[in-house]
Amino acid sequence: MSRQMMERSGDLFVGINEAAEPNNLSDLEKKHIPFIDAPETVTKGEYFDIRVEVGRLLAHQNEYQHFIQFLDLYADDAFLTRVDFMAGRSCPKATFCVSLHHPAKELRAYAHCNLHGTWLGRKAVSVTE
Ligand SMILES: [Fe+2]
Repeated sequence: MSRQMMERSGDLFVGINEAAEPNNLSDLEKKHIPFIDAPETVTKGEYFDIRVEVGRLLAHQNEYQHFIQFLDLYADDAFLTRVDFMAGRSCPKATFCVSLHHPAKELRAYAHCNLHGTWLGRKAVSVTE
């Protein structure tokens, strides 16, 4: 871990971490921010797939001392689902099958790293009737 990362780590467990500059991600952000693949438009009440991946741009460590513990998925502030990971046995990627029942504006994936806190990835979504 770099000195800069260690200095920043003290703050990482306070609140939710997001990209400071989405078009210029740091290595820490590349490793932790969940990437969401999902349709831009979905139909209210119909199931669709959402794929979430942590470390797409830069692989995150996956060992007992340092790993992604879970992913939570929300539509705006509404909880949808969660997946837990086991260090060295499962990688932080998952496909969820969900349906939305309210006019959500955004899908939110929260990834929790045991050393670097919780990180948020967002993707706009439109729900049609
Ligand atoms: Fe980490």
